[in-house]
Amino acid sequence: MPTIKETAVITGANRGLGLEFVRQMLNSGYKVIATCRQPDDAEELYQLAGSGSLTVLPLEVDDPHSVDSFIKAMDEQPVDILVNNAGVMGAPAQDIDNMEVNLWLKLLRVNTIAPFELTTRLLPNLRMSDRPRVIAMSSQMGALNSNGEGFYAYRSSKAALNKVMQTLAIQLAKEHIIVCPVLPGWVQTDMGGKDADISVDESVKGMMRLLENLSLEQSGQFLTWHGTQHTW
Ligand SMILES: NC(=O)c1ccc[n+]([C@@H]2O[C@H](COP(=O)([O-])OP(=O)(O)OC[C@H]3O[C@@H](n4cnc5c(N)ncnc54)[C@H](OP(=O)(O)O)[C@@H]3O)[C@@H](O)[C@H]2O)c1
Repeated sequence: MPTIKETAVITGANRGLGLEFVRQMLNSGYKVIATCRQPDDAEELYQLAGSGSLTVLPLEVDDPHSVDSFIKAMDEQPVDILVNNAGVMGAPAQDIDNMEVNLWLKLLRVNTIAPFELTTRLLPNLRMSDRPRVIAMSSQMGALNSNGEGFYAYRSSKAALNKVMQTLAIQLAKEHIIVCPVLPGWVQTDMGGKDADISVDESVKGMMRLLENLSLEQSGQFLTWHGTQHTW
């Protein structure tokens, strides 16, 4: 096993990209704090415990009490990497003739506001690190140059996430805290579906390389899983 280097916090770690982040980070020797809504049901996550230093904490990112408890549990814990991964796409009922406003508000809370809140509330922990990095899973569907139809709630929540992350990057640069929205690609998860372009392994491998090499000069850029800049 590689020497444990840094501590990473991953939200939505029980399946999909979050679970793969945990797997690859543990294999690379990171100390991992994995969060999910229902730890009791997170069997696949606990199966990874044997491969390294894993702590599982409950966190429903859209519940203020859950966020408070999580922040309390993180007291005095340095954090080198925060992966704001938890996200939701919502039902297709988010189109011109079929919009559920409550769904839209839910997506804004989970996909946009929660990454802001977690990042800002973990600032004391990030400040304890020599090289703090924060990434948030964005989406091609939130890019302003993307020309697809529908999914207004999801698209707008990720476009707003990009702006939030870019603004945090500007404000936190003086503290050397790196913040980037990152595009994982179209990935074969429950959300991406079986026909997606790339495997979770490929996507996360790319983002792991990105996290290893991420510099302050790149902070605030909209980056892809293979480390290139994406058009906003
Ligand atoms: N897959 C893709 O092609 C793709 C493309 C672009 C961006 N992304 C983004 O990448 C991230 C991960 O996507 P994925 O494909 O791995 O999705 P996924 O397989 O649907 O997994 C989503 C994860 O987020 C968690 N989550 C959802 N709402 C939550 C909440 N309120 N509080 C805490 N956790 C919550 C889920 O937990 P539960 O199991 O409890 O629901 C699950 O662990 C998302 O932000 C997504 O928007 C994915």
